[in-house]
Amino acid sequence: MKCVLIRGGIVVNADHERRADVLCVGDRIVEVGLDLKGADGAQVIDAGGAYVMPGGIDPHTHMQLPFMGTVAADDFFTGTAAGLAGGTTSIIDFVIPAPRQPLMDAYRTWRGWAEKSASDYSFHVAVTWWDESVHADMGRLVEEEGVNSFKHFMAYKNAIMADDEIMVNSFSRALELGAIPTVHAENGELVHTLQQRLLAAGISGPEAHPLSRPPVVEAEAAQRAIAIAEAMGVPLYIVHVSCTESADAIARARARGLRIYGEVLAGHLVVDESVYLNRDFASAAAHVMSPPFRDAAHQSSLWNGLQSGSLHTTATDHCTFCASQKAMGETDFTRIPNGCGGVEERMAVIWDAGVNSGRLTPSEFVRITSANAASIFNIYPRKGVIAAGADADIVVWDPQATRTLSASTQFSKGDFNIFEGRTVRGLPAYTITAGSIAFARGDLRAERGQGRYVHRAPFSTQFNANQLRNERNVPRAVERSL
Ligand code: URP
Ligand code: ZN
Ligand code: ZN
Repeated sequence: MKCVLIRGGIVVNADHERRADVLCVGDRIVEVGLDLKGADGAQVIDAGGAYVMPGGIDPHTHMQLPFMGTVAADDFFTGTAAGLAGGTTSIIDFVIPAPRQPLMDAYRTWRGWAEKSASDYSFHVAVTWWDESVHADMGRLVEEEGVNSFKHFMAYKNAIMADDEIMVNSFSRALELGAIPTVHAENGELVHTLQQRLLAAGISGPEAHPLSRPPVVEAEAAQRAIAIAEAMGVPLYIVHVSCTESADAIARARARGLRIYGEVLAGHLVVDESVYLNRDFASAAAHVMSPPFRDAAHQSSLWNGLQSGSLHTTATDHCTFCASQKAMGETDFTRIPNGCGGVEERMAVIWDAGVNSGRLTPSEFVRITSANAASIFNIYPRKGVIAAGADADIVVWDPQATRTLSASTQFSKGDFNIFEGRTVRGLPAYTITAGSIAFARGDLRAERGQGRYVHRAPFSTQFNANQLRNERNVPRAVERSL
């Protein structure tokens, strides 16, 4: 059986740091303590001067997503391999059924695509339409397939947009099943109207993208989703919170006792909207994602939310398109495929901008890069912690290593890097996934198909709706850790 002994590092969990060795046997951590001995033949990693942390969990990626007339460039192998190079050992991707496509059909398709993953993976399933079969399939997905979260795109009108009726039906079904609804919060009607007005005014380049999706468009949708969740008595997870207005809406809702969780993308923390003014179409278009990058003032709100605990997780929305794909929108910005990369850089960018700046302690870094995602999506303590019995998904972090991020040196298949030229201090020295060393000091040894599908159990459904109004539907692990 494979055996890895990580010696002499500082183990960092969400709640403490301590000097300890970590012994992994097979795909699990079996012991954390001082002066551990590995079996004969154990691979020994010298972690002196390094932090030993739970492997990152990116709860928002889109590998090989068919979207806006093309398919994202990183597939489940190249994308998860890039993640491993950056210290991320699990992703939660999205099954996105076309309108009227049965959820189970789409789910099986995505499960097939994901078999080549190099790291563990799981799926949120999007609810893009509604009828009795969707109601039934949500039940099968929760009860038989280990799905405990359903996604609602409030944007992308005439494609995958979920209107209020769909959300009300789906949120209340999620509550019955012990699943958590999640939303992409942007008002799709407003986006559509603003896009048409900009085009009619002859503003058709990438500079129009942020103008068509101002913060109010996001804030309205975030507030509406929170109101629907409150009325239905169900918790809610809002993906890619990008502006002060939605961060404030979440903080206000939480102050009223509602269980609303917020996710922040690494890109939104450090990249600002000036990228859309670049006269080079390829560069401006490469940054087209939704919600767009914002005025830098919004970044402070996102950091404040992560520091104060009103925002909980960090992700990337990794969805890479090459220049030739972005060129589909050369004369019409609404046709530029929306999406950017980041799965490889998230941990380093957040460490550098968060821990090195003094905004976050190493334990807080663990909270927002793995432990909170594991808790909210009910895979804690299998993941998100260095402890006996947990999966051996570990990053050995060298806080002194530096690197200048660039598309020319990235493992990801995209031909662009939104963090191009940024020098970061703090990088993975080793990444271990399910007990195997997948990345060792620059050497990526990711194995196609080594990743496993991660079942996520439903949350308690013991409560009735009245109790839920007071106690909310929430896993115990979340109660403990947040
Ligand atoms: O622009 C983005 N974010 N593309 C991926 C799909 C989504 O909205 O998450
Ligand atoms: Zn989205
Ligand atoms: Zn997304």
